[in-house]
Amino acid sequence: MPASSSLGAAPAIPRVSIVLPTYNERGNIEPLLAQLLPLKAHFDLEILVVDDDSADGTAELVRQLAHGEPCLRLIRRVGRAGLASAIKEGLLDATGDFVVVMDSDGQHQPSSVLDALTTLQQGDFDLVIGSRFHAQAQIQGLSGRRETGSTWANKLARASLPGYRQLSDYMSGFFALRLDRCLHLVRAVDVNGFKFLYELLAHSRGQLRVCDIPLSFQPRGYGTSKLDMAVLWDFGISILHTLCLRLLPRRAISFGLVGASGFLVQILVTQLVMLLGVTFAQALPVAVVAAASSNYLVNNALTFRFQRQRGLALLRGLLKFLLVASLPVLANVGVASAFYSYVAHNTFWAQLAGIVVVFVWNYAASSRFVWNTP
Ligand code: GDD
Ligand code: MN
Repeated sequence: MPASSSLGAAPAIPRVSIVLPTYNERGNIEPLLAQLLPLKAHFDLEILVVDDDSADGTAELVRQLAHGEPCLRLIRRVGRAGLASAIKEGLLDATGDFVVVMDSDGQHQPSSVLDALTTLQQGDFDLVIGSRFHAQAQIQGLSGRRETGSTWANKLARASLPGYRQLSDYMSGFFALRLDRCLHLVRAVDVNGFKFLYELLAHSRGQLRVCDIPLSFQPRGYGTSKLDMAVLWDFGISILHTLCLRLLPRRAISFGLVGASGFLVQILVTQLVMLLGVTFAQALPVAVVAAASSNYLVNNALTFRFQRQRGLALLRGLLKFLLVASLPVLANVGVASAFYSYVAHNTFWAQLAGIVVVFVWNYAASSRFVWNTP
């Protein structure tokens, strides 16, 4: 086993934490733990399972397994907050000097844990990424579609992270880090995204010493992937957020894009309703309400999905949203005409000023009053 000689003050047997995020992994977690626990022979080991209240009894099973296994700990959260947030929680709770994060569905292998820890212990790197796209990676069970998608996502990610162009997998679910070097960055990671690793890299702006090692990647055991449209959307927002120098809030970018889609809905609905033989003035209110409703539903499914309204609350939220969105119509007219009279005699800038005010109002007020977030 590698000695921790190059780390100076590090203890002879390094303290290692493994963070396992779980969401409906009951069928996978037991075999994985059986593979990981033998690592106790090499490390002062702690395993943290961060479960988002899985409906399949994952947490109950881990609780049982933890009896008689002091190195196993369960963190159970209620109100699913997503993968990135689960990883952040695990990293903040970890007591190891080195922490490994991996999928709990059997796709990542214990051999990769050893490889990553060996590299970290040599002391030249703060973060080691298990890469699916490393020339020596052993990949099974990554569908052609996923591979193409990941390859493109990777290109985008690389372009947005100038400090880390040498890396080959910016979205891996497998990575290991030195907590002393990374904790301050982990604390600040924005968890409104699936890809914790990308957020950590983006936030650290080239400060970390990072390398990648080949990952051995297997088909998932039981169950299905949680990667869905909303996750892809979050990823796109992350890239835009980085390209906007991380100045605009992520949610505001998402809210803005959804607003732009509402504009298209409005134009389309106006045309459709006018086909029925009504005038533009009659069609317009219908189209505006349709666009606002569409914005509400899409924001509920994407921008605010972790505060998502359901059932009756969905309807109540819609009414609130329409109310919130109707005030700025007046504000828009007011700001635009005031700008035109007092600031600049220019219709373009006047209207843009109106739109900016409406956007800020809609975003702030609906975050607060419709989805109850600050
Ligand atoms: N606690 C918690 N909460 N865990 C979650 C959640 C969540 O909301 N969503 C997913 N997980 C857990 C899963 O149980 C699994 O252990 C791990 O996170 C990865 O989720 P998968 O659903 O298996 O994702 P994937 O395999 O399709 O995606 C893989 O590739 C991505 C890059 O394209 C993973 O390796 C991801 O981590 C990686 O980002
Ligand atoms: Mn997986």
